[in-house]
Amino acid sequence: MRHFLTLKDFTKEEILEIIETGLEIKKNLKSKVYKKELENQTLGMIFEKSSTRTRVSFETGMFQLGGHALFLSNRDIHLGRGEPVKDTARVISSMCDMVMIRTFEHSMIEEFAKYSKVPVINGLTDSYHPVQLLADYMTLVEHSANENIVVAYVGDGNNMTHSWMMLAAKLGFELRIATPKGYEVDQTILAEALELACDGAVIKTMNDPKEAVRGATVVTTDTWTSMGQEEEKEERIKIFSGFMVDDEMMSLANDGARFLHCLPAYRGLEVSEEVFEKHSDIVFNEAENRLHAQKGLMVWLDKQRDS
Ligand code: CP
Ligand code: NVA
Repeated sequence: MRHFLTLKDFTKEEILEIIETGLEIKKNLKSKVYKKELENQTLGMIFEKSSTRTRVSFETGMFQLGGHALFLSNRDIHLGRGEPVKDTARVISSMCDMVMIRTFEHSMIEEFAKYSKVPVINGLTDSYHPVQLLADYMTLVEHSANENIVVAYVGDGNNMTHSWMMLAAKLGFELRIATPKGYEVDQTILAEALELACDGAVIKTMNDPKEAVRGATVVTTDTWTSMGQEEEKEERIKIFSGFMVDDEMMSLANDGARFLHCLPAYRGLEVSEEVFEKHSDIVFNEAENRLHAQKGLMVWLDKQRDS
């Protein structure tokens, strides 16, 4: 049995296999072929933070695969009133076939997984957002934009950045990360990513967004204020000025460079309205691909359990 907590536990071949599985399922869905690969299975979805895409994609995906998804907000279950994680894990995993968790500290999901009898999927923690990266890479594959890529990440050193680092380390591409001083990526996670880096993987960190974007084939960003940091918002807006991905910034990238955003996007902050709308086709395909990539992931995890 495997959990999906971060990309660091997966090989390049496994990551690509999950994405291929998702692409195959997407192709079938578009021709109205529904394979009930998870018939009679239930996915428990624990949310300690808000979500639009993660909830809709997992719940819809599970339904399309013949299963059922349970939305469990921490406002409604005893976890939010102090029932220990290890007890919650043993109870939920005795009834559900898979569990998806969106929470704050990454250690919570690790503890849950330790006590869970079924696969646990990370639907975002303060440290990582690996399911988003499956969708992001799937999108690049679909747009034939995944060969010889140089990815520039501009903005906050956060869960998205850490997952980009792990993807670059595992798949072997160049990732340049530009953050303001004081908002750099977690140095322990960076060291781990550098240690795991395979042939072709280059991970550079800097404080100049222009240096990161120059010649990049993919430019990406994320909110400057992640969930849980709301009270820092005004201060962050001041500190991050100069980090907006706008036309001038995009003009430094390669001709035809793609722009990705995990969403939700804050126009006029991390991305300009013009850049966002110019690239909205790929960005909304990226959002839709959450559905297909995660269906691929759930089917893949289910197969690991059987084999
Ligand atoms: N990108 C993403 O995870 O979106 P939600 O927060 O809406 O789930
Ligand atoms: N970094 C953001 C990602 C949202 C999908 C957050 O954690 O809020």
